[in-house]
Amino acid sequence: MARTMRATAAVVAALILTAFAAGPASADPLPGSGTRTVWVVAADLRLHARPSSDSPVTVRALEGSSAAYAGEARGSWVRVRIGGTDAWTPARFLTTVKPAWQARPVWVMRERVRLRSRPTNTSPVVATTFRAERGRLTGISRGGWAQVKYRGRFAWVRASAISTAPRFPTTSTLVLVNKRNPLDPRDHVPSNLVTVAGSSSLRLRGAAAAAMARMRSAAAADGVSFTVISAYRSYATQRSLYARYVANLGQAAADRVSARAGYSEHQTGLTADLSSGGGCRLGACFGDTAAGRWVRANGHRFGFIVRYPDGYSSITGYSYEPWHVRYVGPDVATAMRDGGHATYEQYLGRPAAPTY
Ligand code: DAL
Ligand code: ZN
Repeated sequence: MARTMRATAAVVAALILTAFAAGPASADPLPGSGTRTVWVVAADLRLHARPSSDSPVTVRALEGSSAAYAGEARGSWVRVRIGGTDAWTPARFLTTVKPAWQARPVWVMRERVRLRSRPTNTSPVVATTFRAERGRLTGISRGGWAQVKYRGRFAWVRASAISTAPRFPTTSTLVLVNKRNPLDPRDHVPSNLVTVAGSSSLRLRGAAAAAMARMRSAAAADGVSFTVISAYRSYATQRSLYARYVANLGQAAADRVSARAGYSEHQTGLTADLSSGGGCRLGACFGDTAAGRWVRANGHRFGFIVRYPDGYSSITGYSYEPWHVRYVGPDVATAMRDGGHATYEQYLGRPAAPTY
């Protein structure tokens, strides 16, 4: 399929060039190249210093690379700017048709997967990923390998290591829990809960508890203090908590601020509610306190995200909760921040969960 499309693109380009060869040198030899962006359709394209295959190769490009069409042509050759270099190539190796891969995100489903420069185990390692790192599929594959674009570079990865629909089990620190994704089973109890430093009864999973202790120390060093006021909550605890909200607010309002039993992130042992005391305990104004601002700006360094940010209720299903932080690990939390993904649903490319 991909091969047919590439062949078709090459034929179209060649036909256009045939027509062009008799025309003026300034006309665009590629259909639609006024857009200026073109894509490489050769597996390993060598581009030349001059419009001749005898001239030196100045830059190489993998299939799927994009280039800027420089608007100059000589016979069947065109000049492009690629990787900061101006170079020439026969136009048949380029297409102006935007490849579908630009819109197809993909996630690495294993820890520290090595991305390679070619689809073989022996080719050089281009990058090593973290679990749940996002990339984009180029749509090109070869014998069990998929070409991807990661951190602005093209690379090859074993297709078995990636997924276009990431899902993590309830026991994973990366699990997505929301109104459409309950814990499995609903009454799941995490196995490695430890007491949160500075508390006698509150518990979190080991990694989250350790990260919380580090985060509170770093905040203290910046003169900012907050404490954990709620952490792991069992199915039974969440059930009675939710029932209290329903009794006080009615079900519709309760569902905006409290999860039903089996649907709360607190039950994963990866989530904590923070407070710096005063009138903003469990209030939106916590986000404007020194602690709320510090956590929003620094939480990612310790692996925490503010899970229900302001303005995203239609995705998360909950009102703004600047005090509710979820541990996803520093790699994912930092990638969310760097990539501008406000919610975990958006980072994972998963549907919004406004209702049950
Ligand atoms: N307050 C959050 C949504 C919970 O109950 O888990
Ligand atoms: Zn909470």
